[in-house]
Amino acid sequence: MKIKNITIIHGPNLNLLGQREPNHYGNLTLDDIDDALSKEANKLNLDIDFYQSNSESEIVNRIQSLKSDFIIINPAAYTHSSVAIRDALAAMEIPFIEVHISNVFSREDFRKQSFFSDIAVGVISGLGTEGYFAALNFVAKLNK
Ligand code: DQA
Repeated sequence: MKIKNITIIHGPNLNLLGQREPNHYGNLTLDDIDDALSKEANKLNLDIDFYQSNSESEIVNRIQSLKSDFIIINPAAYTHSSVAIRDALAAMEIPFIEVHISNVFSREDFRKQSFFSDIAVGVISGLGTEGYFAALNFVAKLNK
């Protein structure tokens, strides 16, 4: 199947990128990242849309409404707690890549557990915001 529509989902507190713990998350804002991803998607001939929420239920509702071919999601803190978001992704059967800006394995122990990784196509962690671009380019290559 040709992949055309990609949804990027940003979880809680990622709206604060640029000011939030720059040692872990860098200096780019969420708008900077989404703008650059839009340009990259354009080059790759993919349609892309973006969603950020701090609310677990809103993320679940959004996932349930998606008609996308592929999801790139940074579930942020919900990575380590949300059975509800995991179940929504599993229910929709839309393939997804889990992205983390920081290397969650080099931080606190509670960040080493993810409710998503075992059902993800793959996981990218610790490449900074480049991880989103790596995921997008991987998706584009699935069409070749
Ligand atoms: C994060 C890592 C999570 O542990 C954390 O709660 C986040 C961001 C990351 O992108 O590195 O909010 O997902």
